[in-house]
Amino acid sequence: MDLGLTGKKAIIIGAARGIGMATAEILAREGCDLAITARSEDGVKDAVAHLRKYGTNVIGSAVNVKKEDAYKAWLAGAIEELGGCDVLIPISSSGGGMGSEKYWHNAFEVDVLGPVRAVEAVLPTMTEHQTGSIVLIATTSAGEAMGGPQAYNAMKASLVTWGKQLALAHGKDGIRVNVVSPGPVEFEGGNWDMIKGTMEKFYAGTLRQQPLGRLGTPEEIARAIAFLASPAASWCNGSHLVVDGGYTNRTHF
Ligand SMILES: NC(=O)c1ccc[n+]([C@@H]2O[C@H](COP(=O)([O-])OP(=O)(O)OC[C@H]3O[C@@H](n4cnc5c(N)ncnc54)[C@H](OP(=O)(O)O)[C@@H]3O)[C@@H](O)[C@H]2O)c1
Repeated sequence: MDLGLTGKKAIIIGAARGIGMATAEILAREGCDLAITARSEDGVKDAVAHLRKYGTNVIGSAVNVKKEDAYKAWLAGAIEELGGCDVLIPISSSGGGMGSEKYWHNAFEVDVLGPVRAVEAVLPTMTEHQTGSIVLIATTSAGEAMGGPQAYNAMKASLVTWGKQLALAHGKDGIRVNVVSPGPVEFEGGNWDMIKGTMEKFYAGTLRQQPLGRLGTPEEIARAIAFLASPAASWCNGSHLVVDGGYTNRTHF
């Protein structure tokens, strides 16, 4: 199937590792020009060098989405350098944590305001060109009560609601908005890699609940994100796709 991504201009926030990196790789391979970011300068530099091997225009520099002015300037610069934006995928996340109010502030700033500021930055150019695709990343921990009470799950849940609202508001301008909720995904240097080494019982319990007997890979989530981002998903708008190997114990009406 041709995804129709060749020549599209995509912005991915949080693309230095894991699902973001895997998504950037698919989009580059499919012929997209890319602007990527993360906080780590070395991480972004390495990712840009790696992605350029596919032959498209790939630009990137480090920014923290919590630094409002710098982040907004980065977004404006990315849109200008790419010459527009057809695809936006804001992926960066606070990663959770509980125990004090600071986690709520952190999750709100990274998991909610990160995507909000990015969407606000790209809507004018998408509206002008009457085309665009936005994929927000939530989590299965938003739809089911997993782990202890914490801001991450609640903040991610808000993206599912907001994504639908955006889809209804901007569909008339040819802009599609969809949400992907990954189940547990394991990769070297990622959260589940850390949990495997530090919380063995929790890791083993989660693994036991996987119908396919393993956690997911970044590529398995990235393929779903790339499809929804692409013109091949032209009739998908306002959807919420759970990609979890069947992990969540409910039917998704
Ligand atoms: N992995 C899972 O099991 C899982 C499950 C469900 C949902 N998700 C969601 O899927 C997305 C990707 O998760 P992941 O596990 O693949 O990757 P991750 O380890 O959460 O890393 C995400 C990326 O975002 C960047 N980032 C983090 N904080 C940032 C900030 N404040 N400003 C700018 N960039 C920032 C990171 O690079 P730097 O550290 O260099 O900034 C990294 O490139 C997240 O939204 C996560 O919540 C993941």
